Amino acid sequence: MDRLAPEQLRSHRWYGTDTVRSFSHRARTRQLGLSAEDHLGKPVVAIINTWNELNPCHIHLRDRAEDVKRGVWQAGGCPVELPVISLSESFQKPTTMLYRNLLAMETEEMLRSHPVDAAVLMGGCDKTTPALIMGASSMDIPAIYVPCGPMMPGNLRGEVLGSGTDVWRYWADRRAGLVPDGVMRDLEEGIARSPGHCMTMGTASTMTSAAEVLGMTLPGAAAIPAVTSAHVRMAAACGRRIVEMTWEDLRPSKILTAEAFHDAVTAVLALGGSTNAVIHLIAMARRLGVDLTLDHFDAASRRVPVLADLRPSGTYLMEDFYLAGGLPALLTRITDLLHLDRVTVTGRPFGDGIADAQVYDDKVIRRRDDPLSEEGGLAVLRGNLAPSGAVIKHVAAEPRLLRHTGPAVVFDGHRDLRRRINDENLPITPDSVLVLRGAGPRGGPGMPEQGMLPIPDRLLKAGVRDMVRVSDARMSGTSYGACVLHVAPESHVGGPLALVQDGDLITLDVEARLLTLEVPEEELTRRRAAWTPPRTVFRRGYGALFDTHIQQADQGCDFDFLTGTGGAPEPDTE
Ligand code: FES
Ligand code: MG
Repeated sequence: MDRLAPEQLRSHRWYGTDTVRSFSHRARTRQLGLSAEDHLGKPVVAIINTWNELNPCHIHLRDRAEDVKRGVWQAGGCPVELPVISLSESFQKPTTMLYRNLLAMETEEMLRSHPVDAAVLMGGCDKTTPALIMGASSMDIPAIYVPCGPMMPGNLRGEVLGSGTDVWRYWADRRAGLVPDGVMRDLEEGIARSPGHCMTMGTASTMTSAAEVLGMTLPGAAAIPAVTSAHVRMAAACGRRIVEMTWEDLRPSKILTAEAFHDAVTAVLALGGSTNAVIHLIAMARRLGVDLTLDHFDAASRRVPVLADLRPSGTYLMEDFYLAGGLPALLTRITDLLHLDRVTVTGRPFGDGIADAQVYDDKVIRRRDDPLSEEGGLAVLRGNLAPSGAVIKHVAAEPRLLRHTGPAVVFDGHRDLRRRINDENLPITPDSVLVLRGAGPRGGPGMPEQGMLPIPDRLLKAGVRDMVRVSDARMSGTSYGACVLHVAPESHVGGPLALVQDGDLITLDVEARLLTLEVPEEELTRRRAAWTPPRTVFRRGYGALFDTHIQQADQGCDFDFLTGTGGAPEPDTE
């Protein structure tokens, strides 16, 4: 393999020339306390850290960055930690999805504008994974991902709990009057017991696993629990490896090929992963000029079985998955569906990273002849209600609802939903189809995770736990139910969802991949003519930028000016 010479390092343009600018850069690096021996002629490695004190999933990354630095120094590089915004799923409102592209932009521009040769990306809570990889891909300098790792399993009075999933379940039971306050207090203290991201196969685990299959992490990294010594060692190993990657000039564009994305889709399906992966992987692929569409997901879903028995679709949690062999072990069971020859951050073929892997527990990672589900967990629906597509995670729904026709009960935005869902006068029966609109990329704004519409209290008390729900929103990766999501185009831009009226019949047919509004076309034309677009909320600031440039769900919700490759020159350093 060709190796770069020190003069070919990107940082050399800042440091290595005989100009007053270069002199100043060296002088200011002395000011940092670094000597010439520390950095000149060495790869300068940016550690892009999404640690902050309101992101509990990443709270250990402040320390973990020191382990990455140890590895970088060992291998002859010079680490510099560059903090960036964190996307804290737990706290940020209205939704972290509003800010995914902001973190991607910040990552790209931090790397572009500073004297750095490579990047170690540290994240894991939901959108941080796609955002960091999107930014690093657009910048296209060598980059490796350190997934923050799942938190410890939750525990309530001896019962093992999964984040999100079991909260929704307990909350529904509480609304049905079944859970005393003392239990809820213990739940509050037991559900999230350590640093790390959600330990179900929610969006975080789905996306860190996708990053691993894409080849952006060291093999086996995604499932390593956040608070274990193995996680510390993995971080240091990433520090060592990124220095070598710099000399090898191993950039994201060489790793993130169409084959890599197709393998990531395959793995997400075999994991029973989050519906959010559809949006994120499409957005990531489009940053590299790779054509990935909803149809790829649907086609793969028909041939990839769900093998990981993990909540919310299954039973176990990420620590069980890790101890059962983790992602490399699962991948050994689907090698016929993967591209094993493509390169990863290791500089070696993807197949090498799983060559020694083995499944240690067939209950957690099922055999091919005993899958959790024969089909992948996602289906892409189309029809006159979703001309550009919609998504359902049908493995997490009650099977009786997968072919269903019922009358719509329509809610205009989440506020309307909250206000009226328990109105005794609403004609809601277990057969109704609950419709939420105004919750898409522009209407939400930011496409909040409101797609698991609550079941009305009186139906909960009657034992109903699932209903067909349709929205232009997303759904948390830890949620479940017969929820049709990501309806595109969204109602806010005049998609057919905007035309639905109470009582209209809606048909969901997952087998046929159909979502139909049973209203004659002439009537829809009449309603369309009478429709007026809603006002936008943002008049200034980042929100206005978002509102102007956000793309629809089927295109990955990236900003239109961020997709594609090239077009952003290197800065002049003189
Ligand atoms: Fe951070 Fe779930 S809240 S991953
Ligand atoms: Mg989530």
